Amino acid sequence: EPLVITDKEQMRRWSRAMRSQGKSISLVPTMGYLHQGHISLVREALKLTNLTVVSIYVNPGQFAPSEDLSTYPSDFHGDISKLMSVPGGVDVVFHPPNLYDYENDMKRNKNDQGARKNSEGKGEVVSCLEESGMGHETWVRVEKLENGLCGKSRPVFFRGVATVVTKLFNIVEPDVAVFGKKDYQQWRIVQRMVRDLDFSIRIIGAEILRDNDGLAMSSRNVHLSAEERGKALSISRSLLGVKSAAENGHINCRELRDSVIQAVSEAGGRIDYAEIVDQESLQAVEEINSPVVFCIAAWFGKVRLIDNIEINL
Ligand code: PAJ
Repeated sequence: EPLVITDKEQMRRWSRAMRSQGKSISLVPTMGYLHQGHISLVREALKLTNLTVVSIYVNPGQFAPSEDLSTYPSDFHGDISKLMSVPGGVDVVFHPPNLYDYENDMKRNKNDQGARKNSEGKGEVVSCLEESGMGHETWVRVEKLENGLCGKSRPVFFRGVATVVTKLFNIVEPDVAVFGKKDYQQWRIVQRMVRDLDFSIRIIGAEILRDNDGLAMSSRNVHLSAEERGKALSISRSLLGVKSAAENGHINCRELRDSVIQAVSEAGGRIDYAEIVDQESLQAVEEINSPVVFCIAAWFGKVRLIDNIEINL
């Protein structure tokens, strides 16, 4: 059974004690409600270091007030039993109640409301964290990569992710951290942040795990009705179609994009974006003649799904 740690200081003490014994540590950051996609990251981590930490924390800093923070699914006991079934075993589950409640928090008083209004007035992004009146005000931003794809419709998201991942890195002090390519832009942003800010942590990108029917696994899939789930298969199906079309010489991105938009729309999905971008810069390309990734986000009912496929021509 993994050791459950809820306190930051205790987490850091454990980590430093293990490192002083020469052990290497990997971290798998999650928001819980674990599925086999998360477990595949854990298996990857187990291969890379002596010890493995899984963090479970739903981060208010990456949700906009209009988004699904309050309905985000959770099942801590289920998560623990899933982690216990992994051969080799997770050593620590880091499950803090709140990563933003600082001791001696001078700012956390009624002035905060004013601070929030000011930043809204300047047209700045506001997350559920600012809404909660916490005194936190330092953010990490990866200024170009955070703009496109998911960043367009979720302007607070990557600022929140980069910030909480930085906090987790500073608390857990891992040697390696594993992220899923399911959240392709998130993985690239964390990689860039680690390079730009000289974190001494190796970032691993793990392949997308799919259900047998092709749907990319996601904690949010539980909110899909059976009918919506069937329709959502149009995403993975059309992405596979684009990959084989590209491999057969169809390299015009506008045509490939249109075919996916049409297939997913006909199935009843509402497209947020569908773009073919360079794998590193995430900038749109017109023709496929270098490594690209087709990224898509679409709504089925009240659920926003994302998926992608790498095309290496
Ligand atoms: P969460 O959505 O719980 O995902 C945790 C990790 O699991 C991410 O790296 C994500 O890419 C990976 N993952 C999810 N579904 C996957 C799948 N089907 N195949 C492979 N990997 C998959 O992403 C987050 O949490 C948060 O933004 C976080 C990084 C924890 C910061 O709060």
